[in-house]
Amino acid sequence: MHVLSPSQPPATDIATYLREFSLSSAPSLFEPETGSTIHDEVVVEGRRYDRFINEFWPARQRGGHSLHEISYRACFKAELPHFFIDLLSRESELIYDPFMGRGTTIIEAALMGRRVAGNDANPLSRILSLPRLSPPTEQEVYARLEEIPFDTPCPEPDIDLSMFYSPATLRQLLNLRAWLHQRWKDNVEDAVDRWIRMVATNRLTGHSSGFFSVYTLPPNQAVSPERQKRINEQRNQRPPDRDVPGIILKKTRSLLRKLTLEERKRLKRAAEDALLLTNDAASTPEIADDSVALVVTSPPFLNTVQYAADNWLRCWFNHLDAERIGMKLTVTASLEQWRVSMLAVLRELFRVVRPGGWVAFEVGEVRNGTLNLDEVIAPLGERAGFVCRGIVMNRQNFTKTANCWGVANNRKGTNTNRIVLLEKS
Ligand SMILES: C[S@@+](CC[C@H](N)C(=O)[O-])C[C@H]1O[C@@H](n2cnc3c(N)ncnc32)[C@H](O)[C@@H]1O
Repeated sequence: MHVLSPSQPPATDIATYLREFSLSSAPSLFEPETGSTIHDEVVVEGRRYDRFINEFWPARQRGGHSLHEISYRACFKAELPHFFIDLLSRESELIYDPFMGRGTTIIEAALMGRRVAGNDANPLSRILSLPRLSPPTEQEVYARLEEIPFDTPCPEPDIDLSMFYSPATLRQLLNLRAWLHQRWKDNVEDAVDRWIRMVATNRLTGHSSGFFSVYTLPPNQAVSPERQKRINEQRNQRPPDRDVPGIILKKTRSLLRKLTLEERKRLKRAAEDALLLTNDAASTPEIADDSVALVVTSPPFLNTVQYAADNWLRCWFNHLDAERIGMKLTVTASLEQWRVSMLAVLRELFRVVRPGGWVAFEVGEVRNGTLNLDEVIAPLGERAGFVCRGIVMNRQNFTKTANCWGVANNRKGTNTNRIVLLEKS
């Protein structure tokens, strides 16, 4: 049985490695083919591409590091970047994600002792990612929360949020928002402030008492005020009082629960020269030519997710203009436009990846499974200058059993991870 080892095989052996791969750690939910990779080929534009299908990483939920447990629309599980970072990079090498979202790739890479660079056109992504490279201790967070005047009277908010929060909760939230903003304006914002901002941003709305709001959709999809009013009527509910600092502290404890001293040291090293940008992924002049060992990334899949609309409340809390951000994001119904955008990104990746370096580009199937985006990306990657070494498909059991374990991709119509593996050879 071939166990995933931290010493990666030579590039030419990748195909053999993937063919012989067998997941020996963690009980598998994927019964029939466990242990054997299915190896076949897909033909696109007359060129044959190798395809490797197996359960390359475990399907179980919450198997990753607790530090990842920040919800974000269409994020991937930490096991995905872990697999490729382990396979295709060495300690201290630079790992990059041009569409970093909640920062899964860069946090996992930093935990594994790599250097990191990340980019996302939505500045929320930086707000969610950066603080987890320099996590404070629970005591530091407690002490800082004690300094914030949560319950002082404050003016009405600029928008009506009474359908989400009780008056007492809203007062705490507004005081926290104003306090954090002042610290930022005074140029004294530090790692503890940024951590509290990140946790609060993540706790704004959700479907349990661990969030500031009354019951609503999961935290990565803030509904509109009108929709929330209807939810309240249907459920006959009124926003309850919540303890804002108490919830922040509880979530802090949960995020830090698996963090070891050694991992803190690795994060600190990664944070020292981490580069986190808010550019268009096709234009990142801040990243040097030939500097990146490995890119692990997942772009927007056409228009399956409306990132700006989902994040309006998170943007409000952080004084960001959701509409303007929305205009910068690649959200398109047209495959042709998507192809043009992705080719520009792949050309930029070809510039920053070092010779012998890799790109693991995760996409899925869209339009009810009729369009496999990996078959669009593989030839585009080659047009940008890379050699496509194959398509890795991670299959998981999406039966009822798996769903009750929470194993379901939150992208509409996407049931597999398809990773196009490109080498700058
Ligand atoms: C599929 S999500 C990435 C999720 C990420 N892998 C994670 O685990 O959180 C795609 C991301 O691309 C960002 N994005 C969309 N258009 C972009 C562009 N043109 N340049 C950079 N980032 C963009 C979105 O804001 C979103 O965060």
